[in-house]
Amino acid sequence: MKASVFIASSLDGFIARTDGDIDWLTNPDYDIDGEDFGYSSFIKSVDVILMGRNTFEKVLTFDQWHYTVPVRVCTHRTLSIPDHLQNKVDVISGDPSTMLEVLSKEGFVHAYVDGGLLIQQFLKAKLIAEITLTLIPVLLGSGIPLFGQLEEDIRLELLQSKNWENGLSQNHFKVLK
Ligand SMILES: NC(=O)c1ccc[n+]([C@@H]2O[C@H](COP(=O)([O-])OP(=O)(O)OC[C@H]3O[C@@H](n4cnc5c(N)ncnc54)[C@H](OP(=O)(O)O)[C@@H]3O)[C@@H](O)[C@H]2O)c1
Repeated sequence: MKASVFIASSLDGFIARTDGDIDWLTNPDYDIDGEDFGYSSFIKSVDVILMGRNTFEKVLTFDQWHYTVPVRVCTHRTLSIPDHLQNKVDVISGDPSTMLEVLSKEGFVHAYVDGGLLIQQFLKAKLIAEITLTLIPVLLGSGIPLFGQLEEDIRLELLQSKNWENGLSQNHFKVLK
């Protein structure tokens, strides 16, 4: 079972403001007509999303549910899933390898791991195969970090690099074992 990350961060490495706000990311100044910065191609390559509970709570505040693949929310709590998402969302918990084993037994082959704390756990467990990181040209100074402390270095190989006229740049990495 493969697990990948597709995420955007500020230049100083934050995925949200401290209060979870992502206004700096959804800023229409960065829109380019017909450009989705590789999202649709990435989402077609995955068959399940493993989402941290904090990210799920943020997503619930959006007008629409955008996900076309099943979402498993990682939580140690009892979550109340809104009625309209009952067939689309389920909960899961455990260490990263156990969660991937469970998903693999259900027939899934490629998980999109989303949410800072969740990604950090998967990286520590050496279970992330690839990371696509879009850098937004803004410094936030503080916020929710994408990466955290590590006991040892994690090396990556750059597979592809792109940049756009709006200042966004994107690196696609393979995580080296
Ligand atoms: N910039 C971007 O592209 C981007 C992408 C995604 C998210 N975000 C933002 O990032 C913020 C959320 O990130 P975050 O780092 O705070 O948290 P997160 O990773 O989304 O969620 C963390 C929570 O997930 C649960 N969890 C994590 N690992 C688990 C495990 N192994 N088993 C069971 N539950 C587990 C725990 O919730 P419980 O306490 O319920 O157990 C934990 O507190 C949001 O503001 C979101 O909007 C931004």
